[in-house]
Amino acid sequence: MSSYHLPVMAKECLEALSLKPGGVYVDATLGGGGHTLQMLKSCSGIKLYCFDRDEEAIGEASRMIGETDNVDLIHANFSTLRTELALRKVKSINGILFDLGVSSHQIDDRERGFSFDRDAALDMRMDKTQDFSAYDVVNGLEFRDLAKLIKDNSDELNASRIAKAIVAARETKPIESTGELARIIEAVVGSGSKDSLKTKVRVFQAIRIYVNGELEILGPALEDAINLLVSGGRIVVMSYHSLEDRIVKNVFRDAATGCKCPPKIMKCVCGETKRLKVLTGRPVSANEEELVQNNRARSAKLRVAQKI
Ligand SMILES: C[S@@+](CC[C@H](N)C(=O)[O-])C[C@H]1O[C@@H](n2cnc3c(N)ncnc32)[C@H](O)[C@@H]1O
Repeated sequence: MSSYHLPVMAKECLEALSLKPGGVYVDATLGGGGHTLQMLKSCSGIKLYCFDRDEEAIGEASRMIGETDNVDLIHANFSTLRTELALRKVKSINGILFDLGVSSHQIDDRERGFSFDRDAALDMRMDKTQDFSAYDVVNGLEFRDLAKLIKDNSDELNASRIAKAIVAARETKPIESTGELARIIEAVVGSGSKDSLKTKVRVFQAIRIYVNGELEILGPALEDAINLLVSGGRIVVMSYHSLEDRIVKNVFRDAATGCKCPPKIMKCVCGETKRLKVLTGRPVSANEEELVQNNRARSAKLRVAQKI
């Protein structure tokens, strides 16, 4: 298994995808290729289209998987799923996996500037070709926008105080490193406590979500995926925080509801039909055995649905 990233709930994802020989599948978040490799091993003759917005992930997975016509590695945001597949003349798919967020490798690689406990230049871009990084957010946004992004993307109670401290600190000189940002947060909430650690986790995650536009692309991408699925095809999504999970839950619920006309109306006028059957009433979590081996699996929530 790759040290790049241990695939989370690999067995559960495989079962949920219910792969069929000859089927066409998408791994929307390739990472280190862990789930992709498991899919290739468990079912022969499938064709896989794998997306990652991080060129390094594409390189690593390409080394892991090796030369094969069964896999097409695509350096692109999954927000372009529909167009990228259309370019490859793919009109429908049998299943798709989204394993959201960042990989362990991205967090652990100091140079990427995702982590508060590894001092590095503020960056946090999943796609290094993007021209807008955490440095621009932290040093460029006005107080109000900064406070809103921290609050909206993390529910952090101290969002305003932290935004104020960031704005005050950058009046002297730009905030250039993850260490500087971490110390500004600690000065607001106190250092060394459990609360301070949680606040740093939340603020760094909030800035990462904003830099990579993670929340606004998710709903439309899930819609595109549902539309591409053949009848009986599966959509499998793993999320790692409540904001993401809420989007998945709502998109699934809406697609499974169909007609949204008020009950009084005798004949449907909205034209919406049921497109999905949700297969996981409550999201699935990793079992104890996996949690011992992989701490990252702790926050994972798996939701599965099937196209009608
Ligand atoms: C949790 S990791 C996936 C790990 C993978 N399942 C494995 O087993 O190795 C998430 C990966 O998805 C990528 N990613 C996140 N959001 C993306 C997006 N919108 N489009 C394409 N790739 C994305 C990240 O760059 C990262 O490599």
